[in-house]
Amino acid sequence: MLNTVIVSAFSPTDDGVRVAADAIKRGELAVIPTETVYGLAANALDSSAVDKIFVAKGRPQDNPLIVHIADRDDLCNIAREIPPVATALADRFWPGPLTIILKKSSVVPQNVTAGLDTVAVRMPENEIARAVIRAAGCPVAAPSANVSGRPSITCAKHCKEELGGRVNVILESFDCKFGVESTVISLVGPRPCILRPGAVSPAELEAILGSVDISPAVLRSLEKNEVAASPGMKYKHYSPNAEITIVDASRENFISFINADPNRFALCFDEDIPDIPPEKAVSFGSQNDPLSMAHNLFEALRTLDQRGARTVFARKPSLDGIGLAVYNRLLRAAAFREISL
Ligand code: TXA
Ligand code: MG
Repeated sequence: MLNTVIVSAFSPTDDGVRVAADAIKRGELAVIPTETVYGLAANALDSSAVDKIFVAKGRPQDNPLIVHIADRDDLCNIAREIPPVATALADRFWPGPLTIILKKSSVVPQNVTAGLDTVAVRMPENEIARAVIRAAGCPVAAPSANVSGRPSITCAKHCKEELGGRVNVILESFDCKFGVESTVISLVGPRPCILRPGAVSPAELEAILGSVDISPAVLRSLEKNEVAASPGMKYKHYSPNAEITIVDASRENFISFINADPNRFALCFDEDIPDIPPEKAVSFGSQNDPLSMAHNLFEALRTLDQRGARTVFARKPSLDGIGLAVYNRLLRAAAFREISL
């Protein structure tokens, strides 16, 4: 067990930034806020610090990490053969919730990229995250700050519950602006390909790239023996203790289905709440507002566990904009179970 120091920062000049950065400098682990989800950060150029991330999360060794930078100029130290489309994407979306997969440079240790010849790079929009990276003076490897397989964390309170005793510093801050992890796009194949949907939507990427593929694994489970373009896609993910099933149905059908059996718990929209007994409903956002769903989904999954929910039925979100990311996470939390009514 580590002695976890808890500090806070609500502006880039707050003391907590320095405490987290100093820990990273010493080769230790710090949980830091980003605009997507909280991250579990270590010096990306120090392979023994990076090893500690895998231990603290219980993360499989073959699942590579994202390298976070605070300044555009740092990209050319991390990646090589950077194509003009990467520069165009960075110009448009950085700092922001877009991770770009490029060929890796030799300074990046093998364990960061799980032995791959490619590296995932992102410049976060959250200015506290960038202040920590700058003060640490190194690029920062950071997966989501959850124990592997559990829902990601979007508020300070859950960082301590999840990783207290496993990390050196927790930097508490505001709730994460988006609430789902960054969009991951690969630029190393023949065509740009979205490996994980996020706040930057396919339409926004197409506006810059002309056209973009979406990995089939975004909306279905991998076939037996299929190689995952992004190793993270093959693992069980975002799982609460409850068994979740997504339900594609009208509001009326969903509500009658839930109310027909006292054991059916609802993960529903705000608008459904008045028609379901309060003890068996948790909302994850407003029906026509996918941003609110992204913002609330992971917290709602944790609330289901606190409420002791066992058999949960979730309303299917619209797939527009960030809705595709919400559905992608919900599908994994539901182990791809979906029914239509
Ligand atoms: O928003 C985010 O991206 C958050 C915050 C903390 O920045 N980080 C995050 O990291 O979600 P993580 O480790 O939970 O997810 C990274 C994903 C995994 O699915 C991993 O397999 C994939 O990115 N990935 C990383 N490097 C890759 C590479 N070289 N090639 C393909 N996929 C890669
Ligand atoms: Mg993760």
